[in-house]
Amino acid sequence: MNHTDYKSERERVWKEILSDLEVDGSKVIDVGIGESTEKLAEAGAQVIGVDSEIEKLKECEVDVPLVKCDIVNFPFEKRIADLTLFNFTLHEINPHQHSEAIRMASLISPRLAVIEPSPEGGPLYQRYKKLQQEIMESIGKYEEYRSLSYWKDLVRKEGFEITTAKTIKPQTVIPPSILEDMKQDTIETLKEKGVKKEYAQDMKEILEDAKEQGMRWSPRLVVIGEHP
Ligand SMILES: C[S@@+](CC[C@H](N)C(=O)[O-])C[C@H]1O[C@@H](n2cnc3c(N)ncnc32)[C@H](O)[C@@H]1O
Repeated sequence: MNHTDYKSERERVWKEILSDLEVDGSKVIDVGIGESTEKLAEAGAQVIGVDSEIEKLKECEVDVPLVKCDIVNFPFEKRIADLTLFNFTLHEINPHQHSEAIRMASLISPRLAVIEPSPEGGPLYQRYKKLQQEIMESIGKYEEYRSLSYWKDLVRKEGFEITTAKTIKPQTVIPPSILEDMKQDTIETLKEKGVKKEYAQDMKEILEDAKEQGMRWSPRLVVIGEHP
Protein backbone atom coordinates (compact mmCIF):
# COMPACT_ATOMS: atom_id res chain seq x y z
CA MET A 1 0.00 0.00 0.00
CA ASN A 2 1.37 3.40 -0.91
CA HIS A 3 0.46 7.02 -1.48
CA THR A 4 -1.45 6.24 -4.69
CA ASP A 5 -3.54 3.53 -2.99
CA TYR A 6 -4.35 5.91 -0.15
CA LYS A 7 -5.35 8.70 -2.53
CA SER A 8 -7.46 6.43 -4.71
CA GLU A 9 -9.20 5.00 -1.66
CA ARG A 10 -10.14 8.50 -0.49
CA GLU A 11 -11.46 9.34 -3.97
CA ARG A 12 -13.41 6.07 -4.08
CA VAL A 13 -14.99 6.74 -0.67
CA TRP A 14 -16.01 10.27 -1.72
CA LYS A 15 -17.49 8.87 -4.94
CA GLU A 16 -19.53 6.36 -2.93
CA ILE A 17 -20.75 9.03 -0.49
CA LEU A 18 -21.66 11.50 -3.24
CA SER A 19 -23.56 8.78 -5.06
CA ASP A 20 -25.51 8.04 -1.83
CA LEU A 21 -26.21 11.76 -1.38
CA GLU A 22 -27.38 12.33 -5.00
CA VAL A 23 -26.42 15.99 -4.94
CA ASP A 24 -26.24 16.87 -8.64
CA GLY A 25 -28.41 19.99 -9.14
CA SER A 26 -29.51 19.97 -5.46
CA LYS A 27 -29.27 22.84 -3.00
CA VAL A 28 -27.02 21.72 -0.15
CA ILE A 29 -26.24 23.41 3.15
CA ASP A 30 -22.73 22.25 4.04
CA VAL A 31 -22.24 22.69 7.77
CA GLY A 32 -18.49 23.06 8.36
CA ILE A 33 -16.38 24.35 5.48
CA GLY A 34 -13.65 22.15 4.02
CA GLU A 35 -13.15 19.14 1.77
CA SER A 36 -16.90 18.50 1.70
CA THR A 37 -17.57 21.98 0.25
CA GLU A 38 -15.17 21.31 -2.61
CA LYS A 39 -16.50 17.79 -3.29
CA LEU A 40 -20.14 18.91 -3.27
CA ALA A 41 -19.45 21.76 -5.70
CA GLU A 42 -17.48 19.41 -8.00
CA ALA A 43 -20.42 17.00 -7.96
CA GLY A 44 -22.77 19.70 -9.28
CA ALA A 45 -24.50 20.76 -6.05
CA GLN A 46 -25.52 24.37 -5.38
CA VAL A 47 -23.71 24.70 -2.08
CA ILE A 48 -24.15 27.18 0.74
CA GLY A 49 -21.28 26.85 3.21
CA VAL A 50 -21.91 27.46 6.91
CA ASP A 51 -19.20 27.74 9.54
CA SER A 52 -18.94 29.26 13.00
CA GLU A 53 -15.24 30.14 12.53
CA ILE A 54 -14.40 33.18 10.42
CA GLU A 55 -10.89 31.80 9.64
CA LYS A 56 -12.46 28.73 8.01
CA LEU A 57 -14.68 30.91 5.85
CA LYS A 58 -11.70 33.05 4.82
CA GLU A 59 -9.73 29.93 3.83
CA CYS A 60 -12.57 28.67 1.60
CA GLU A 61 -11.33 28.47 -2.00
CA VAL A 62 -14.63 27.32 -3.47
CA ASP A 63 -16.78 30.04 -5.01
CA VAL A 64 -20.02 29.47 -3.07
CA PRO A 65 -22.20 31.65 -0.81
CA LEU A 66 -21.00 31.50 2.80
CA VAL A 67 -22.79 32.09 6.09
CA LYS A 68 -20.94 32.68 9.35
CA CYS A 69 -22.99 31.26 12.19
CA ASP A 70 -23.34 28.48 14.70
CA ILE A 71 -25.69 26.02 12.98
CA VAL A 72 -28.06 26.03 15.96
CA ASN A 73 -28.60 29.76 15.24
CA PHE A 74 -28.96 29.37 11.46
CA PRO A 75 -30.85 32.51 10.36
CA PHE A 76 -33.32 30.87 7.92
CA GLU A 77 -35.67 28.50 9.72
CA LYS A 78 -37.48 27.24 6.65
CA ARG A 79 -36.96 24.79 3.81
CA ILE A 80 -34.37 26.62 1.73
CA ALA A 81 -32.39 23.54 0.66
CA ASP A 82 -32.75 19.92 -0.42
CA LEU A 83 -30.06 18.52 1.87
CA THR A 84 -28.09 19.51 4.97
CA LEU A 85 -24.70 17.83 5.31
CA PHE A 86 -22.62 17.54 8.47
CA ASN A 87 -19.33 16.03 7.29
CA PHE A 88 -16.98 15.58 10.26
CA THR A 89 -18.62 18.54 12.02
CA LEU A 90 -20.99 17.22 14.70
CA HIS A 91 -18.18 15.84 16.87
CA GLU A 92 -16.94 19.43 17.23
CA ILE A 93 -20.33 20.55 18.57
CA ASN A 94 -21.24 20.32 22.25
CA PRO A 95 -23.03 16.93 22.55
CA HIS A 96 -25.83 18.67 24.48
CA GLN A 97 -26.55 20.57 21.25
CA HIS A 98 -26.48 17.63 18.81
CA SER A 99 -30.28 17.31 18.88
CA GLU A 100 -30.72 21.03 18.33
CA ALA A 101 -28.35 20.97 15.35
CA ILE A 102 -30.23 18.06 13.76
CA ARG A 103 -33.60 19.71 14.50
CA MET A 104 -32.37 22.82 12.70
CA ALA A 105 -31.47 20.64 9.71
CA SER A 106 -35.04 19.28 9.67
CA LEU A 107 -36.32 22.85 9.39
CA ILE A 108 -34.03 23.84 6.52
CA SER A 109 -34.11 20.73 4.32
CA PRO A 110 -36.10 17.50 3.91
CA ARG A 111 -32.89 15.42 3.74
CA LEU A 112 -30.00 15.18 6.17
CA ALA A 113 -26.63 13.46 6.08
CA VAL A 114 -24.33 12.91 9.03
CA ILE A 115 -20.82 11.67 8.30
CA GLU A 116 -18.64 11.14 11.35
CA PRO A 117 -15.47 9.35 12.43
CA SER A 118 -16.15 6.19 14.40
CA PRO A 119 -14.65 5.99 17.91
CA GLU A 120 -13.20 2.60 16.89
CA GLY A 121 -9.69 2.09 15.56
CA GLY A 122 -6.31 0.50 16.31
CA PRO A 123 -4.18 1.21 19.42
CA LEU A 124 -2.16 3.96 17.76
CA TYR A 125 -5.30 5.63 16.45
CA GLN A 126 -6.74 5.45 20.01
CA ARG A 127 -3.68 7.34 21.33
CA TYR A 128 -4.10 9.94 18.59
CA LYS A 129 -7.84 10.33 19.29
CA LYS A 130 -7.34 10.64 23.07
CA LEU A 131 -4.71 13.33 22.62
CA GLN A 132 -6.87 15.22 20.10
CA GLN A 133 -9.72 15.17 22.63
CA GLU A 134 -7.47 16.45 25.43
CA ILE A 135 -6.11 19.23 23.23
CA MET A 136 -9.56 20.37 22.13
CA GLU A 137 -10.89 20.24 25.70
CA SER A 138 -7.90 22.32 26.88
CA ILE A 139 -9.08 25.16 24.61
CA GLY A 140 -12.76 24.79 25.45
CA LYS A 141 -13.70 22.88 22.29
CA TYR A 142 -15.18 19.45 21.57
CA GLU A 143 -13.83 16.35 19.83
CA GLU A 144 -16.44 13.74 20.79
CA TYR A 145 -16.79 10.66 18.62
CA ARG A 146 -19.95 8.55 18.84
CA SER A 147 -21.16 5.18 17.51
CA LEU A 148 -23.35 4.56 14.45
CA SER A 149 -26.31 3.69 16.70
CA TYR A 150 -25.93 7.01 18.57
CA TRP A 151 -26.23 8.98 15.29
CA LYS A 152 -29.08 6.79 14.00
CA ASP A 153 -31.08 7.27 17.22
CA LEU A 154 -30.54 11.01 17.17
CA VAL A 155 -31.56 11.37 13.52
CA ARG A 156 -34.69 9.22 14.11
CA LYS A 157 -35.56 11.18 17.27
CA GLU A 158 -35.75 14.36 15.19
CA GLY A 159 -38.35 12.79 12.89
CA PHE A 160 -36.18 11.57 10.00
CA GLU A 161 -36.63 8.18 8.37
CA ILE A 162 -33.24 6.57 7.86
CA THR A 163 -32.52 5.68 4.24
CA THR A 164 -28.83 4.81 4.64
CA ALA A 165 -26.79 3.81 7.68
CA LYS A 166 -23.38 2.30 7.13
CA THR A 167 -19.76 2.08 8.16
CA ILE A 168 -16.98 2.54 5.62
CA LYS A 169 -13.80 0.87 6.85
CA PRO A 170 -10.42 2.17 5.69
CA GLN A 171 -8.30 -0.38 3.81
CA THR A 172 -5.06 1.58 3.55
CA VAL A 173 -2.61 2.90 6.14
CA ILE A 174 -1.84 6.63 6.10
CA PRO A 175 1.37 7.11 4.06
CA PRO A 176 4.41 8.49 5.98
CA SER A 177 4.56 11.59 3.75
CA ILE A 178 0.97 12.51 4.70
CA LEU A 179 1.74 11.90 8.39
CA GLU A 180 4.81 14.13 8.09
CA ASP A 181 2.73 16.95 6.55
CA MET A 182 0.10 16.44 9.26
CA LYS A 183 2.81 16.67 11.91
CA GLN A 184 4.13 19.99 10.56
CA ASP A 185 0.62 21.47 10.10
CA THR A 186 -0.62 20.28 13.49
CA ILE A 187 2.39 21.67 15.35
CA GLU A 188 1.93 25.01 13.58
CA THR A 189 -1.81 25.11 14.37
CA LEU A 190 -1.28 24.14 18.01
CA LYS A 191 1.24 26.99 18.36
CA GLU A 192 -1.22 29.46 16.82
CA LYS A 193 -3.96 28.31 19.17
CA GLY A 194 -1.67 28.77 22.19
CA VAL A 195 -2.01 25.11 23.22
CA LYS A 196 0.39 23.77 25.91
CA LYS A 197 3.82 22.89 24.43
CA GLU A 198 3.66 19.36 25.91
CA TYR A 199 0.68 18.58 23.67
CA ALA A 200 2.64 19.47 20.54
CA GLN A 201 5.47 17.18 21.69
CA ASP A 202 3.03 14.32 22.41
CA MET A 203 1.42 14.75 19.00
CA LYS A 204 4.82 14.74 17.32
CA GLU A 205 5.68 11.44 19.06
CA ILE A 206 2.40 9.78 18.09
CA LEU A 207 2.72 10.81 14.45
CA GLU A 208 6.35 9.63 14.38
CA ASP A 209 5.22 6.24 15.78
CA ALA A 210 2.45 6.18 13.18
CA LYS A 211 5.03 6.70 10.42
CA GLU A 212 7.04 3.73 11.69
CA GLN A 213 4.25 1.34 12.69
CA GLY A 214 1.48 2.36 10.28
CA MET A 215 -1.85 3.88 11.30
CA ARG A 216 -5.29 3.78 9.70
CA TRP A 217 -8.03 6.36 10.15
CA SER A 218 -11.06 5.15 12.05
CA PRO A 219 -14.04 3.88 10.01
CA ARG A 220 -16.36 6.52 8.58
CA LEU A 221 -20.00 6.42 9.73
CA VAL A 222 -22.68 7.53 7.29
CA VAL A 223 -26.32 8.19 8.21
CA ILE A 224 -28.75 9.66 5.70
CA GLY A 225 -32.34 10.55 6.62
CA GLU A 226 -35.47 11.93 5.00
CA HIS A 227 -38.09 14.03 6.76
CA PRO A 228 -41.64 13.20 5.70
C1 LIG B 1 -13.33 19.02 10.97
S1 LIG B 1 -14.00 20.39 10.14
C2 LIG B 1 -14.81 19.57 8.82
C3 LIG B 1 -15.12 20.53 7.72
C4 LIG B 1 -15.66 20.00 6.41
N1 LIG B 1 -17.03 19.56 6.47
C5 LIG B 1 -14.79 19.00 5.70
O1 LIG B 1 -15.31 18.06 5.09
O2 LIG B 1 -13.55 19.15 5.70
C6 LIG B 1 -15.37 20.92 11.16
C7 LIG B 1 -15.83 22.34 10.85
O3 LIG B 1 -17.06 22.57 11.53
C8 LIG B 1 -17.08 23.91 12.02
N2 LIG B 1 -18.02 23.94 13.13
C9 LIG B 1 -17.86 23.41 14.38
N3 LIG B 1 -18.94 23.66 15.14
C10 LIG B 1 -19.82 24.35 14.36
C11 LIG B 1 -21.13 24.89 14.58
N4 LIG B 1 -21.74 24.76 15.78
N5 LIG B 1 -21.76 25.53 13.57
C12 LIG B 1 -21.13 25.68 12.36
N6 LIG B 1 -19.89 25.20 12.10
C13 LIG B 1 -19.24 24.54 13.08
C14 LIG B 1 -15.63 24.15 12.43
O4 LIG B 1 -15.33 25.52 12.52
C15 LIG B 1 -14.86 23.43 11.31
O5 LIG B 1 -14.57 24.29 10.25
